[in-house]
Amino acid sequence: MPGKLDPDRLYREIIDHTPLAVVFGDREGIIRLWNAGAETMFGYTAAEAVGQSMDLIVPEKHRAKHWEGYDRVMQTGVTKYGHQVLAVPALTKSGRRISIEFNVALLHDETGQVIGAAATISDVTARWEREKAVRARMAELEAKVKALGGPAEAETSVR
Ligand code: HEM
Repeated sequence: MPGKLDPDRLYREIIDHTPLAVVFGDREGIIRLWNAGAETMFGYTAAEAVGQSMDLIVPEKHRAKHWEGYDRVMQTGVTKYGHQVLAVPALTKSGRRISIEFNVALLHDETGQVIGAAATISDVTARWEREKAVRARMAELEAKVKALGGPAEAETSVR
């Protein structure tokens, strides 16, 4: 077995090589870490993204909600997305809208104060598009069944 594994090095290697986008924002919501996965997913290099507001990738329509939640979590030190997944749209450098899912990890300093939030993000655009197509097809079929005087909507609808 090659030399002793240094845990700090392992942590760094995992962040550098995971296909997930790992984005850390400080208490003010300024991007402080942007891994290679984030470069690939969003199209901005780390040099372009670090130091910018997270608004770089948050679509305008979602900013108020995002910052409301973000600021509250920085104050309370509690997030519901440690285990639950937050599913939202995001913007890439080329202006493409993608669908992302992520968890939030709150990071603390040695005194226990929250220093910011790290998101581990997956691009679920392909799955989202497939589900959208299935939903559209279901709606189409339901309309046809209804037009034929078939069973009520509640029996055929998903969710
Ligand atoms: C890129 C697109 C993003 C969008 C559209 C977005 C949108 C949102 C929305 C709608 C909420 C409110 C959720 C709720 O009330 O249940 C929220 C909360 C939050 N977001 Fe974002 N967000 C994005 C990226 C990020 C990133 C990259 C981070 C962290 C690095 C982050 C950290 C948070 C935190 C900490 C909360 C509060 C969670 C809580 O209430 O427990 N967001 N965001």
